[in-house]
Amino acid sequence: MIKKCLFPAAGYGTRFLPVTKAMPKEMLPIVSKPLIQYGVEEALSAGMTQMAIVTGRGKRAIEDHFDISYELEQQIKGSDKESRLAEIRSIIQQCTFSYTRQIEMKGLGHAILCGQTLIGNEPFAVILADDLCDNPDGENVLAQMARVYERYRCSVVAIEEVAMSEVSKYGVISGKEIDERIFMVDNMIEKPKESEAPSNLAVIGRYILTPDIFEILRHTPPGKNGEIQITDALLAQCKSGMVLAYKFCGKRYDCGSVSGFVEATNEFYAKYH
Ligand code: UTP
Repeated sequence: MIKKCLFPAAGYGTRFLPVTKAMPKEMLPIVSKPLIQYGVEEALSAGMTQMAIVTGRGKRAIEDHFDISYELEQQIKGSDKESRLAEIRSIIQQCTFSYTRQIEMKGLGHAILCGQTLIGNEPFAVILADDLCDNPDGENVLAQMARVYERYRCSVVAIEEVAMSEVSKYGVISGKEIDERIFMVDNMIEKPKESEAPSNLAVIGRYILTPDIFEILRHTPPGKNGEIQITDALLAQCKSGMVLAYKFCGKRYDCGSVSGFVEATNEFYAKYH
């Protein structure tokens, strides 16, 4: 039912400098596939075919990746190397890609608002490609969330339990568990101090949002770190309606941090190669 998936990919990726100086963080490979391709594959197998990507300066490689490379393809035609392009070719055939630029990096909430021009007035998914999710024995995380959306028809955020010492890195929710793995959100704080955190349930980089979020974002003032925070907009949405948090099945790797990236690389190499 949800057809569009938005990928905010305009951030600077400063934790990976110098590699992200001229190369997008989303193009960092886990073994031989860039992070954003894993995200697109997840969205596609959750039934979404229209990929909307918010980019910024220095992100051209993302557009080139989801396109044909005639010279290269001609060069390897007929060789066994051709099979290495099978997955990306199939993605390009099945999906459309549209792009817009975030001119100033004013935060994740602002990046999502920039995506309105690509999304329009319909519910949509959001993937932060640097959160790599894997659930080899079942449905992928976005597909699980799409099912929750279909049942409740409101915004849904993915959550996981983290150590209390880690809560200050995340948006943190509190709420009542209304069904297995599903919480009705009653509070949400961006990067709280341990002493101020309402729980240890941290929001990770998967969302399903209803389009009224755009109007809310337009009126959301800068919050933590002077950035327009999606957490603040979702709190407003939950006060005026309903937002659910879904404790997903599977494992998430924080590939926006060097240690999470190395862990994902090692585990994916052992599991899939
Ligand atoms: P991060 O907090 O991981 O920031 O953003 P970052 O800039 O990418 O990385 P570091 O912290 O400097 O290493 C979370 C997500 O939101 C996007 C990022 O691209 C990432 O997917 N984002 C963030 C934007 O698109 N625009 C922004 O202004 C901020």
